Amino acid sequence: MGSLRTQVGIVGAGPAGLLLGHLLHLNGIDTVVVEARSRDYVIDRVRAGVLEQGTVDLLVALGVSTGLCRAGLRHEGLYVTFDGRRHRIDLADLTGGKAITIYGQNEVVRDLIDARSATTRPLYFGAEGVSVHGLETSKPVLRFQHGGTDHEVHCDFIAGCDGSHGICRPSIPAGAQTVYERVYPFGWLGILAEAAPSSDELVYTYHERGFALFSMRSPRITRLYLQVPADEPIESWSDEAIWDEMLTRMTTRDGWRPNVGRILQKSVTPMRSFVAAPMRYGRLFLAGDSAHIVPPTGAKGLNLAASDVLVLTRALRAFYEQGRTEWLDEYSNVCVRRVWRAQRFSWWMTSTLHRFPNESAFDHQRQIADLDYLTSSRAAMTSLAEQYVGLPAEVSFESAGLQLHTASR
Ligand code: APR
Ligand code: PHB
Repeated sequence: MGSLRTQVGIVGAGPAGLLLGHLLHLNGIDTVVVEARSRDYVIDRVRAGVLEQGTVDLLVALGVSTGLCRAGLRHEGLYVTFDGRRHRIDLADLTGGKAITIYGQNEVVRDLIDARSATTRPLYFGAEGVSVHGLETSKPVLRFQHGGTDHEVHCDFIAGCDGSHGICRPSIPAGAQTVYERVYPFGWLGILAEAAPSSDELVYTYHERGFALFSMRSPRITRLYLQVPADEPIESWSDEAIWDEMLTRMTTRDGWRPNVGRILQKSVTPMRSFVAAPMRYGRLFLAGDSAHIVPPTGAKGLNLAASDVLVLTRALRAFYEQGRTEWLDEYSNVCVRRVWRAQRFSWWMTSTLHRFPNESAFDHQRQIADLDYLTSSRAAMTSLAEQYVGLPAEVSFESAGLQLHTASR
């Protein structure tokens, strides 16, 4: 049996766990990160790719922005299409110069794993049978098997960064948390295609046949999504059928359409909104998808994980440097406020841009009116823009031990 001691045991090496590990490292706080999957699996997993301005600033302040500055695509606007017409929303103009950056989540994860490796602090990939114990005590324990050996990590705190299917949230006794959930009656079929993006900016499309989204990963790779029925098997979509439907929904009256190319990857993702609160039980703190899921329409998932771990770092730093516990006590309240605002935005984007199976003619006309108002009122566009680029963080970088350097533009 291997027995280790650390300050914070981190379960999960997704964006939440890796960002937290690095933030704590910079504050001189020791961590052990335990990940169920292999390194390659974690890096190759295709996920979303929109970074809010604050997330970009955080990666820069953390010193893990070389790849981001080289390959990230800064977008100062986006398009919303309905009735075959594209309308541009100028994010930078409406928010005093803020923007979003397109940089694949898997690239963020790769950069953070490299940064972790350089610190030589432990990160176990392929851990099996991960479990957490003694959460109500001041010495919680993390157990797992790795390479055929049992390991036990004695911690001061455990951070549950193990996503929506992890073990940390289910380790909290029933009744200690309230769960809020909405499941949508559709999913997104996503593809990566070997095709140069035909627009410099994202295009969100509302079409009679359902939602579609144009995005990208690089000057050679286009990323596209289609609304499909929930639980749609990906096998029922040939590449030809996917392109037919993409072009039908996305081609605008002025002739704009995505470039077609070889499909490199395709999958269907279900859509739901989910919050479990409080995000703390005893010495276990949940961060990221383990505590909340947003539908991808608002592109908020990774960004919420980043803001959670900033708040948690502030609290742990105050505990270790000054023996203060009030920010640990406030952790959940501070995070949940921002989580609900992002939930509201993601729900609104989702309800406005998708077709619903049982919608009435009234609902349909209301959606069109919503989009008409959005694309013709500066006030409505400003509201979308400030939420899309990201509402302000609840805590400062300085309070989490970081200096603020804004991203080079
Ligand atoms: N033990 C150890 N690790 C686990 C376990 C377990 N029992 N269960 C899951 N994990 C790992 C997963 O393999 C994954 O690498 O925890 C990690 C959780 O990462 P994410 O799912 O990426 O969640 P998070 O870090 O909170 O990032 C949130 O990522 O999934 C997207 O849409 C989400 O963009 C959002 C962001
Ligand atoms: C993506 O590029 O993967 C992406 C962009 C915007 C979204 C969701 C996903 O709302």
